[in-house]
Amino acid sequence: MNAPLVVAVDGPSGSGKSSTARGVARALSLAYLDTGAMYRAMTWALLQRGVDPTDAEAVAQVAEQVRLVSGTDPDAPTIEADGVDVSVPIRGPQVTAAVSPVSAVPYVRRLLVQQQRAVIEAAGDGIVVEGRDIGSVVAPDAPVKVFLVADPVARAARRAAEDGSDDAAATLASLERRDAIDSTRAASPLVRADGAVEIDGTHLSLEEVVDRVVALVREVRR
Ligand code: DC
Repeated sequence: MNAPLVVAVDGPSGSGKSSTARGVARALSLAYLDTGAMYRAMTWALLQRGVDPTDAEAVAQVAEQVRLVSGTDPDAPTIEADGVDVSVPIRGPQVTAAVSPVSAVPYVRRLLVQQQRAVIEAAGDGIVVEGRDIGSVVAPDAPVKVFLVADPVARAARRAAEDGSDDAAATLASLERRDAIDSTRAASPLVRADGAVEIDGTHLSLEEVVDRVVALVREVRR
């Protein structure tokens, strides 16, 4: 059996990764994995257990006990932590505020990268995987790698709309804070992977971005 085709979609928060990755998976009938949701679900479970997200040692100790299950249907992505569907609470402000330090802990990254590779291996024809380190660490041999960027003000406006917030300035500040942590951490910082095609979505519609990625996939499938 051939290894599943992997389409890696990396980029900062609010660059449109989720909508793009789901759109590409739908257009090509592929599976979809949101690795950010896994870091968020891990963070949710640690907060439930009363772990201080900035205490790297405690985070690493408890992380191993958390059981995550990721659904890979692009039309209805789900994520469970310890048997609870946490798709909604992982988008809340507590988790959003705590996820960057948790995802900077090397042991958490090792655990989740292993789980992500297992999901990828189990995907039939192929899978679109979104995150920060997919093209660089999780699936460095992915035949299609996209690095999606957008102007920070546009990203903050998109995130505020998604989160139902009317405070775009606060969203911009929170997003820039997370970008700074995600890009400067020692373990797998957000970088453009070797061979990744950069797409700037600031002035493109979602459909245009999806079409560009689909065209890249069709090129490698020919
Ligand atoms: O994409 P998102 O905003 O849901 O990601 C949540 C956090 O998880 C974000 O702070 C970066 C981190 N993350 C990561 O470190 N590596 C990934 N592959 C995906 C997300």
